[in-house]
Amino acid sequence: MTAVKLPIYLDYNATTPCDSRVFEAMRPYFTEFFGNAASSSHIFGWQARAAVDNSRKTIAEAIGATPDEIVFTSGATESDNLAIKGTAEANAARGRHIITAASEHKAVLDSCKHLGDTGFEITILPVDAEGFVSSDDIAAAMRNDTILVTIMHGNNEIGTIQNIAEIGAVCRGRGVIFHTDATQTIGKIPFNAVELNVDMASLTAHKVYGPKGVGALYIRKNSNVAAQTHGGGHESGARSGTLNVPGIVGFAKAIEIAALEMQRDIAHCRSLRDKLWNGIQSLGIETRLNGPDPITNPEKRLPGNLNVSFYGDAGELIAGNLFNVAVSAGSACTSASGGFSHVLSSLGLPGSNMTSLRFGVGRFSLEEEIDYTLDCMRSAL
Ligand SMILES: Cc1ncc(COP(=O)(O)O)c(C=O)c1O
Repeated sequence: MTAVKLPIYLDYNATTPCDSRVFEAMRPYFTEFFGNAASSSHIFGWQARAAVDNSRKTIAEAIGATPDEIVFTSGATESDNLAIKGTAEANAARGRHIITAASEHKAVLDSCKHLGDTGFEITILPVDAEGFVSSDDIAAAMRNDTILVTIMHGNNEIGTIQNIAEIGAVCRGRGVIFHTDATQTIGKIPFNAVELNVDMASLTAHKVYGPKGVGALYIRKNSNVAAQTHGGGHESGARSGTLNVPGIVGFAKAIEIAALEMQRDIAHCRSLRDKLWNGIQSLGIETRLNGPDPITNPEKRLPGNLNVSFYGDAGELIAGNLFNVAVSAGSACTSASGGFSHVLSSLGLPGSNMTSLRFGVGRFSLEEEIDYTLDCMRSAL
């Protein structure tokens, strides 16, 4: 087998290592510039506030927004909650109907479910065999009392990149607020809030080589979103709580690097992911690709993502022999609650007699790691 440092990390859709350049940018904000960004009466607070302001500007510019359209949160789960529950609460007098899709992240589905338990009506649209939601289905599901459509940009399990601009145009045409969970796409593929016709977008730092526990919600100017966390009135009242200044600085640095290196990252991730997929196809066993074809339809799939189902004993042997390779059976987000992936079941997969693995390749993945992973699969068989 190829000499390679073990264990190997191939789960970049779950989280990414913090880029050392990001870590270095954050470091002084733990020790030297530790002030509270809300302390307005001294230099410690001013320094922290300046760092937050600069970071807000960097992140806003990267997504085609203005700084006042960015609300910092603790991550995409909180951003999804704020977007969905906040919109529902603020617009309940206009209507109580919300549209989403079966393959959404649990942060979206469970926020909708909670609203469903409190008097809102939720339409959960099906997805097609590759995980796409049809904008025609969305248009057909809209009613006079529809206030919100929430459809993710890139799927964390099967990599499907939705036609967000088209869905956004449908929503705008009908005066319905449109939220997208862009957790998996921000910094990975181009994202411009204006061009994509979105009113709200959830972001997080830890999927883009930034720190965990910090994210943001883009809220288009003049949108009506009720705060879900009350307290000191931070973030113009949209989300109270002392700001995570080092985290925010790291988030901005991660976004800045991702914007500069995006083309290289995309090419790198695609080439290793495709090598892995070609290698799996030459194992000589029956497999099923979940999500769009990376080779013939690369623009429609997240660059580093691959999700494959293996059948019967072969699947168990392969999964068992990947003990030195960190891959995901399902996703980190659903494996906390266990059970068969709701995303795979939304594609119509039965869940029995198959082992489905998600591979996530990233900025620091090496070709030798793909060779090693394929060697493990071959020797398992
Ligand atoms: C699509 C998607 N949405 C939301 C989340 C939750 O993000 P966070 O870990 O920042 O709360 C994740 C990742 O776990 C994700 O992949």
